[in-house]
Amino acid sequence: MPEFIPLQFTPLSEEEQLRRANAFYKQCAMRRTVRQFAPHPVSRELLMTLLRTAGTAPSGANRQPWQFVVVTDQETKRKIRIAAEKEEKESYEERMPEQWLKDLEVLGTDWHKEFLEQAPALIVVFAVNYDLEDGKVHKNYYVKESVGIAVGFFLAAVHHAGLVSLTHTPSPMNFLQKILHRPENERPYMLIPVGYPAADAVVPAIGRKRTDEYILWHREP
Ligand SMILES: Cc1cc2nc3c(=O)[nH]c(=O)nc-3n(C[C@H](O)[C@H](O)[C@H](O)COP(=O)(O)O)c2cc1C
Repeated sequence: MPEFIPLQFTPLSEEEQLRRANAFYKQCAMRRTVRQFAPHPVSRELLMTLLRTAGTAPSGANRQPWQFVVVTDQETKRKIRIAAEKEEKESYEERMPEQWLKDLEVLGTDWHKEFLEQAPALIVVFAVNYDLEDGKVHKNYYVKESVGIAVGFFLAAVHHAGLVSLTHTPSPMNFLQKILHRPENERPYMLIPVGYPAADAVVPAIGRKRTDEYILWHREP
């Protein structure tokens, strides 16, 4: 029989809801992906708290199918950079279709990934497709959706704490599995450098969709 406990819920006045919603929106609107990092370290305690926030995300059947690997040592960061740059060079020079390269032009990115050594911490996120329990396979559900939401919580927490991050997806990413000795049931999902921006950091001058471009209030005809 499932066990239930009372929900902890604090009701707010609508005024307070709007105040909080606006403050959170304004803060989220300031988030930018940063590709130039300062060497300033991030404490283990801070990273742990941000990762705890990631771990509060909802997940399919509450399987929590994520594994976060924190890399702070220079040697492993270097190995990751070398492997990522090898794949990214091939991608940029041979694998990416023309339209994709065109879409990336405004970001000014290329196969060079200095940030993988500059950032004080690399958070490597793995999607856990199944767990092994007493040698038996226990499947996870909606793995990509669940891990995506956990990463979203993490990115918001990083920004909220006054740090910056880069959502990086070198393609393909299997090298992360080997370098970090992760088991077969896990698949690399995302590589997230976290830290402080370099003093002269710049970000591409790009915009976001207007609300009328992505929100539709449905009305029955
Ligand atoms: C799934 C995903 C993959 C991404 N992969 C990369 C990447 O490999 N390299 C990179 O420089 N930025 C990457 N980005 C960052 C996007 O380019 C960035 O979010 C977008 O340009 C909007 O900029 P903003 O985050 O500053 O608002 C990725 C973002 C997402 C959500």
